[in-house]
Amino acid sequence: MTDVFTTVEQRIDWESARTEPPEGFPPLPEIPGGRYTREDFYDLEQAHVWKRSWICAGPEEGLTTVGQYRLFDKLGAPILIVRGKDGKLRAFYNTCRHRGAPVVREREGRTTLLRCQYHSWTYGLDGHLIGVPDERDFACLDKGERGLVEVRCEVWNGLVFINQNPDAEPLREYLGPLVDELACVDIQGLRVVHTQSYLIDCNWKAAVDAFLEVYHLNTIHPTNAGIMLNSRASAMGLMPRGHSRMATRKNLNKGLNFVEFEGAPDIASMPDFYRRNNVAYNIFPNFVSPVEPTGFPILLFWPRGLRQTEMEAIYLGPDWQDGPRPAFWDRFLPIFDAVLQEDMMNLAPIQASLDSGAFTGMMINYQERRIYWLHEEIDRCIGADNVPPELAVKQVLSDYVETPAAQGADA
Ligand code: FES
Ligand SMILES: [Fe+2]
Repeated sequence: MTDVFTTVEQRIDWESARTEPPEGFPPLPEIPGGRYTREDFYDLEQAHVWKRSWICAGPEEGLTTVGQYRLFDKLGAPILIVRGKDGKLRAFYNTCRHRGAPVVREREGRTTLLRCQYHSWTYGLDGHLIGVPDERDFACLDKGERGLVEVRCEVWNGLVFINQNPDAEPLREYLGPLVDELACVDIQGLRVVHTQSYLIDCNWKAAVDAFLEVYHLNTIHPTNAGIMLNSRASAMGLMPRGHSRMATRKNLNKGLNFVEFEGAPDIASMPDFYRRNNVAYNIFPNFVSPVEPTGFPILLFWPRGLRQTEMEAIYLGPDWQDGPRPAFWDRFLPIFDAVLQEDMMNLAPIQASLDSGAFTGMMINYQERRIYWLHEEIDRCIGADNVPPELAVKQVLSDYVETPAAQGADA
């Protein structure tokens, strides 16, 4: 079997040479604008996507030692992630089983016990309730039944994921082919270089959409990504569960790309495929990352309401141990921030267009199909019977998902 990287590179060649979409590829129906503007659709997403999908809560850094904890509240619910004495990372609602106060108030730290800051009910790092002051005053308290309520928490490649659905499939099954494909990136060996948060006045999907295609590169990013990459030489890969990959050939030998910068760090475990191509992944629903051998950001998109999104950029790079941070990052970070600023420029105006009612739907082309795939998956999560018919997207792309035997070999 040809490895996935070879297949994708052949696909890039094919894409750059073609003159029309592949034969038989279906024209994609419009994506109804109401999906970005209607409260009822937002509520359906909250219930069926955000509360039932594996969601990346960030890198494991700061949570690797027994007793280290971090609060995670990007989904609205207060969640506490903590490393147990047995070495296992767990997540709980940060909600005391006495009267619902937050158990922990600090955003991160290290502790031996989880003592509620209100009346000192005390929980072990595994969530069991072990101490109640003046226990005699509670007539029928069964401590065994009042432990912290657990949230599913699993770690893959140094990234922490949580899922509020107790019956969710294991994380690795959810990630599917991404597990093997991204094993070479060794994310757990990287360290956090920088984090930055942006507030954008648009629905979360409008923000994510902007990172799922390269059609806009030449016009929106003419001085950075537009000259670094060849947007016509780009191969989209659809994966099960709404995930996807976008591999775009770099314009190398002009010194424009990060891998060519002087003193660029190098993640040696990554094959040259990633040096020749910019390869961005979308882990459904809200994780976007253009992985680079130099180090790279992960972008996490958090709905803050129907019309507001937080974009969190967490930059990861090879560890520089005790020395100074490589100067490379002083070059990389401003360029990447400029790219993000350019991407964000259109988003509030797009939301205004959608809200005006003048713009009723998105027209998606063949090379933008990862956007359509995201929307299809949202509907699969919500369930065909629950999606208001006028907002549904027709399911048309399943036949174009990469199969393990021939990833990238189909359209
Ligand atoms: S609410 Fe936590 S001890 Fe009372
Ligand atoms: Fe962009």
